[in-house]
Amino acid sequence: MMHVLSVQQFKDKALLDKLFKRAAELQAMSPDLYPKILQHKTIATIFYEPSTRTRLSFEAAIQNLGASLISTENAGQFSSAAKGETIEDSTRTINAYADGIVMRHPEVGSVARAAEVSDVPVINAGDGAGEHPTQALLDMYSIRQGKGGFDGLTIAMVGDLMNGRTIHSLLPLLSLYKVNLALISPESLALQQNYLTDLDKAGINYRVINDWSDALAVVDVLYMTRVQKERFVNEADYNKVKNDFILTMEQVKQMKKDAIILHPLPRVNEIDTAVDADSRAYYFKQVKNGLFMRMALLDYVYSEK
Ligand code: NCD
Repeated sequence: MMHVLSVQQFKDKALLDKLFKRAAELQAMSPDLYPKILQHKTIATIFYEPSTRTRLSFEAAIQNLGASLISTENAGQFSSAAKGETIEDSTRTINAYADGIVMRHPEVGSVARAAEVSDVPVINAGDGAGEHPTQALLDMYSIRQGKGGFDGLTIAMVGDLMNGRTIHSLLPLLSLYKVNLALISPESLALQQNYLTDLDKAGINYRVINDWSDALAVVDVLYMTRVQKERFVNEADYNKVKNDFILTMEQVKQMKKDAIILHPLPRVNEIDTAVDADSRAYYFKQVKNGLFMRMALLDYVYSEK
């Protein structure tokens, strides 16, 4: 039995290749042929924080593989957490009904606490500003699909690098390959030192910058992120930085013709909607990829002994 808590579990190129191949197979398959490997199982999706893509793609993936689904989408308010139940007690309870739990929670480390008391697999669908391992897997899958591989790519990560859990989960996976990174953010939202130390240890060539004018022309992948408003203590600090990096066609025109633009979504204002029609906009394909990567991941979790 395995839990999926951190991207550290996937720092293995052979395992990643296996997941990418499985996701691609499922993506090419006619839906009536999806393997019903989760038949007679029940999976619970328990979200204590808002979500559109992660929850719905997991729920579609669960049902595509033949499982039935139980769900609470606003668990902070609608589950017994609102009455003061601990995450441990809620998890033990869900264990009575479900063969697996997909959980999102606003506190770093909370999903790992759930896993400690769970007899069924727990999958981290985002824990505060901590990790979002399944997003990192689908981001990697999207880069591989859009650019054919990883070695030699120049990848810029833009926006809220401090609070963005998708960034925190994507970096360790990218570090397995020979990539060049540009880490572009307002100064107050720079990536924490511990992540930079890990990049140094992995021998990754990176630049930390607060201005993207020189980077745009050289990137192969532009990974945009939302300024994570919900992690700010006061709104004035958010307002100071919310408009620092806005991608419009003016910037996109400076980019390579074959570059791709990713964003985990939701976007607020950081990508102008005029960019959506450009051939480099990849973020809605990325959304679709999430379904197949989550199917591949569930297949892996439930076929491992
Ligand atoms: C991200 C998240 O929740 O961390 N969204 C997602 O899961 N696709 C990014 C975000 O909220 O900005």
